[in-house]
This record gives sequence, structure tokens and C-alpha cells, in this order.
Amino acid sequence: MPELTVTDVNKTFNGTQVLHDINFTVHDGEFFTLLGPSGCGKSTTLSCIAGLDRPDTGTIALDDVVFFSGRHNSFVPPEGRNLGMVFQSYALWPHMSIADNLALPLSLRKVPKARRDELIDDALDKVDLLHLRGRYPHEMSGGQQQRVALARALVYSPRVLLLDEPLSNLDAKLREQARAWLKALQASVGITTIYVTHDQEEALAMSDRIAVMAKGRMVQIASPTEIYDRPAAREVAAFVGSCSFLDGRVVDAGDTYVELVDSGQIVHARGRFDVRTSDGVSVAVRPERVTITGADAPASPGVNRIRAHVRSSSYVGARYEYLLSVGDSQIAANCLSPTHHGDVDLLIDPDNVFLYPRHELAGV
Ligand SMILES: Nc1ncnc2c1ncn2[C@@H]1O[C@H](COP(=O)(O)OP(=O)(O)OP(=O)(O)O)[C@@H](O)[C@H]1O
Ligand SMILES: [Mg+2]
Repeated sequence: MPELTVTDVNKTFNGTQVLHDINFTVHDGEFFTLLGPSGCGKSTTLSCIAGLDRPDTGTIALDDVVFFSGRHNSFVPPEGRNLGMVFQSYALWPHMSIADNLALPLSLRKVPKARRDELIDDALDKVDLLHLRGRYPHEMSGGQQQRVALARALVYSPRVLLLDEPLSNLDAKLREQARAWLKALQASVGITTIYVTHDQEEALAMSDRIAVMAKGRMVQIASPTEIYDRPAAREVAAFVGSCSFLDGRVVDAGDTYVELVDSGQIVHARGRFDVRTSDGVSVAVRPERVTITGADAPASPGVNRIRAHVRSSSYVGARYEYLLSVGDSQIAANCLSPTHHGDVDLLIDPDNVFLYPRHELAGV
């Protein structure tokens, strides 16, 4: 089973450390995504795997073939790694036809001429562009060029596909279509893929597992549902989906009851959190997990009930987005009804309340 392992990789550019102790394993056939805000180190991680950047320390290996070892001072150049890469700027040769663009990596690999045409047609067929093999890049749309770049990365049957924001130049609608198409292609070819994006929806929709990065570190590596439903750190909760954060203080660490600092109201969080009584915490809640109800609505045992005041609501097509105050803090709630005003109650299941140490607030 081919597995790509990245172990204890650190990387510094001009005295600034941009990757800190990066560790992950990508399994055979997996669609693995690096997700995080601009500048967090996604492309640098991918470049280290491709061999375009050289880490300072650590190990990168595909099965038992070591591409890079800091300890043994070994480094396999990019052309020796047999990886396919698609860059954000798809970098097709403008003076070459599509077929010739695909022929180039094959001739570099000394594939016999007779076999090249067959491989080119096969790769173009995979991306539904066989009928355009004689065209030049400027005669194609951005989306088509992006597919050519993908075909060029697939044409020599790489062992792993590295994709750096490959859909970023498409408009929103095309991007959604391309997402489904690319995911289906990856599954049918069965190729291990590392995908870089800062688009959380794309990451959630396409990935088997996601590694969320922040400031050069891996913060959480898990399935899309786990990342969304159990964000392991405040950075993850804030970056993947949206979240309101309220200041709290733990009043009972055993059962994780927390007092909201601004309003003195008590909320119950059911996850397993590493907190002690009287710790300052950040209480996080997703807007779609909050139900707005009238203050006179019947009690719902076991569910948090918080007094709040409607500040504003805006219509965004599929729902109304409410902004409410809880003491001096604000909390967002999504709702299908436009009729809530004034004082209301918010119902929040304890499973949907996340707690993070307040010291994680710095710099987020
Ligand atoms: N060749 C380089 N020389 C110096 N600094 C670099 C170099 N490449 C990247 N960096 C810095 O390393 C950090 C990580 O950059 P990287 O390109 O990996 O981010 P990214 O997560 O891919 O961001 P984006 O989403 O904007 O593409 C940034 O602060 C960037 O300025
Ligand atoms: Mg990048």
C-alpha cells in the first residue's frame, strides 16, 4: 500500500520559520486536503513533498522510498519522485498545442514516441477534452485549461497527485461543477491526492480527510464531519464554518458547566474538554445549531436555554441570519422565520457547545 509520510518537517525562509513540526500520513487512494488561511504554509508543505523546496529537518517518504531525510542529508530531486503537480497558475506552454503540452512530460521521461499518443489520448479522455487535442491554450476557457493542466499531471501515471488550488481561477458556479467532476475523476483513477485550498466548502465536499493548518502548524487532521462537528481548536472552529465566541468561566469542570461572563447565564457543554473549575474559556457555538424561540415556549429538558435580545436580522435567500446580544456579547443564529423580535430564548444542545482555552485567543 503506497503511503506518503511527512515526519517532523520544519522549514525556514530567510530566518523566518514557516513550517513547524509538520507530521501526517496520506493513505493509498486517499483524497487528503491541506486547508488554512493565506500564508499558513500549505503551498510550502506541498512544495517540500514535490521536491521544489527543501525542508530544514524531518523526513518525507513514499512507502520505503525516502525523498528527503534531514538526518541522512538525502534529497531526491522532483524529477525522481514521479509525482504529478498542478499549480494554481496552470502554466501551460502557450506556443504548444494541447497534445504537445501533454507530450512534453512524456518525452522528458523518455516514453517511446509510439506510446505517447496513446497515453495523451487516454489522459485527455479522462478530462473530457479529447476533441480539443489540437487546440492551443489561448483558444480554450480557463476551466478547460485547468483540465488540460490536470491531464498533463495524470498523463505519466504519477504515484501521487499534488494539486495547489487548482480550481481557484474558476467562477463560483463552474468551480462547484469542477469540484464534483474532479472528485469523481480522482475516485475513478484511484490516485492518492493531496489537495491545497483555502476554501472550506471545497475541502469539506471533496476530502476523505482534512488537515487544518494555522501559522505553519497542523492544528487538526480528521474527516470533514469530525472537523466540522468537533473542531479541536479555536482556529478550526473559526476557519471552518462560522462560529460565535463568548467569554465564559468554568463553574463545574466535572460536568462542564460554564458561566457566561457578560450575562451570568449558565451553559452546559457535553464534549470532553480539558478544563478546570474557574478556568477562563471561550464558548463557541455555530449559528445553524442555535434555535430561536419565544421566552414563553415550553421547557426542553437537557437543552441549554439562554436569554438573548434580537439586534438585527438579514435575509440571505435560503434563511434569515440573526444577530443577538447575550449581555454585552453577540451571538449569531440562522433561522427560517423572520418573525423574531425583542427578547427571545436561544436553545442550544450541549453537544453543540465547544470550549477552548482563553489563551488561544491571542492572535486569532
Ligand atoms: N520562497 C519564499 N521565500 C520567502 N518566504 C516564503 C517563500 N515562500 C513562501 N514564503 C512565506 O512562507 C509563508 C507560507 O507561505 P505559503 O505559500 O506556504 O502559504 P499558503 O498557505 O500556500 O498561502 P496562500 O493561501 O496565500 O497560497 C508565508 O509567510 C510566505 O510569505
Ligand atoms: Mg499557496
